[in-house]
Amino acid sequence: MKPATTDEVLEILEAPFTSAALGTAFELGLFWLLDEQPLSVAGVGEALGIPQNRCNYWLQLLEKTGLIRETEDGYVPSSTARQSILETYSRETWAFLAQEAREISPALHDLALHIRVPGSVMDSLDFTPVNYVLAMGENPERAARFTRMLFELHHPLATQVAENLDMEGIRRFMDLGGGSGVVSMAVLKRHPECTAVVVDIENVCSAGSHIAGETSVANRITYHPADFTKDNLPDGFDMVLECDVGEYGTDLFRRIRGALNPNGRLVIVDQFPPAVGVARPGQLHWAFERSLRDPEFRFLTVGEVRERLAGVGFEVYSEMTLGTPSVTSATFDKGHTVIQARRVG
Ligand SMILES: C[S@@+](CC[C@H](N)C(=O)[O-])C[C@H]1O[C@@H](n2cnc3c(N)ncnc32)[C@H](O)[C@@H]1O
Repeated sequence: MKPATTDEVLEILEAPFTSAALGTAFELGLFWLLDEQPLSVAGVGEALGIPQNRCNYWLQLLEKTGLIRETEDGYVPSSTARQSILETYSRETWAFLAQEAREISPALHDLALHIRVPGSVMDSLDFTPVNYVLAMGENPERAARFTRMLFELHHPLATQVAENLDMEGIRRFMDLGGGSGVVSMAVLKRHPECTAVVVDIENVCSAGSHIAGETSVANRITYHPADFTKDNLPDGFDMVLECDVGEYGTDLFRRIRGALNPNGRLVIVDQFPPAVGVARPGQLHWAFERSLRDPEFRFLTVGEVRERLAGVGFEVYSEMTLGTPSVTSATFDKGHTVIQARRVG
């Protein structure tokens, strides 16, 4: 949001209230409740167990965003909320996104007092952010919710990837950090001659194979539980796909190379920063948050990933941007880069 007046500058100062009010609306299912029937303050308060006066101000905060509006019959979702929220992602997905935003919000506590800390702001706050992979490893229900959410968010991306991949000569491929296997499923639907092995942590594999069981490609996709940072990877693949995983260490690249057949291919799909130290809009908050842990943190550029690939015996033969090459969108399916590399030797 770009403020144009003093009032709007002051509104940004108050934005944490709006943000928390919106996240709470997602986690408590307010938009879906109001979509069933218009409700008064008292009706919302009763349905969600919120003291009436507090509920009244909460709803007013939300009304100010334009996402709900008051009618004669009570509050209803606005047309913007219908289009951008209710018709875009499921209630479970919005609730999970809001939960993740809430869980990281303590990192911003007293920022003005901590931003100068030379090391980790998290340490000086005595705050340990949720590690999403560890949290899913400890909690199967969280893994299932995350996996469902990303299955939904990545549908458009998966379709775009499947439409643009060079599948010449590919029969068996690995989907490293494949989550639900959404990308594999899209590829398998277009290529009936192929099979896929999704490698992910155990709880995500269970959730993914459950989802795959509901699809037409269930008999051509398998799930291999492993921590790819330390466990052996399965091998004998014509292609390894790494979509939105963001792990570009040379050790992992070497092991991926070992999992590939001669002339096998590695395909990386990710949203890379446009230049060194410049974050894409949808990743700026992550980049800043990571810099609170490690002041030197930055996302790698495509050029840096290509250099690493060359260093471990891959030849990059194609690089393209999918869909709208937008660097302004904050959504999850815009402007991904696909790097296709061939194993040399
Ligand atoms: C952002 S998700 C992307 C999922 C999928 N590729 C997609 O595009 O929908 C990253 C995935 O990598 C997995 N992952 C991260 N670190 C991992 C590790 N050390 N071992 C196995 N899987 C890992 C996570 O569990 C998660 O499912």
